[in-house]
Amino acid sequence: MMLPYGRQSISEEDIEAVTAILRGDWLTTGPAVAAFETAISELTGGHRVVSCTSGTAALHIAYASLGVGPGDEVVTTPMTFVATASCAAMLGAKVVFADVDEATALIDPAAVSAVVGDTSSTSSDSSATRPASRSPTKGRGTRRSTSTA
Ligand SMILES: Cc1ncc(COP(=O)(O)O)c(C=O)c1O
Repeated sequence: MMLPYGRQSISEEDIEAVTAILRGDWLTTGPAVAAFETAISELTGGHRVVSCTSGTAALHIAYASLGVGPGDEVVTTPMTFVATASCAAMLGAKVVFADVDEATALIDPAAVSAVVGDTSSTSSDSSATRPASRSPTKGRGTRRSTSTA
């Protein structure tokens, strides 16, 4: 299967917005960042929003906030950007790959289950009942497995 890489959509308005910032006094923080975070917060129902310098930084922070670390395993697909796996490795977790569903190209929950193993008797943590492709689940023994898509 041939997968096309994403094609970005950047308008003249986008370019003007970026150049306005580059001509201003605030490059790393400031009113544009606060306005962006407020707009995203409103779009997502009022959740607290924190801007990151990159998707990789956002993934690293997300995994760290979940407590991912040594002794954990993170299940993901190799059919995604390397940061999905490398951020888990940077935190000391073991990366385990599960294949994608051929029809959707998204991580296959059955493939995740196959590498995580039996989750029914390892924990009373409610996260064990969440879909494996969306949230942390308990894995083999006492290790926690976190699945990413
Ligand atoms: C799925 C996915 N995750 C993470 C990243 C990393 O984003 P960044 O290049 O902003 O660090 C990318 C970048 O293309 C991506 O496609």
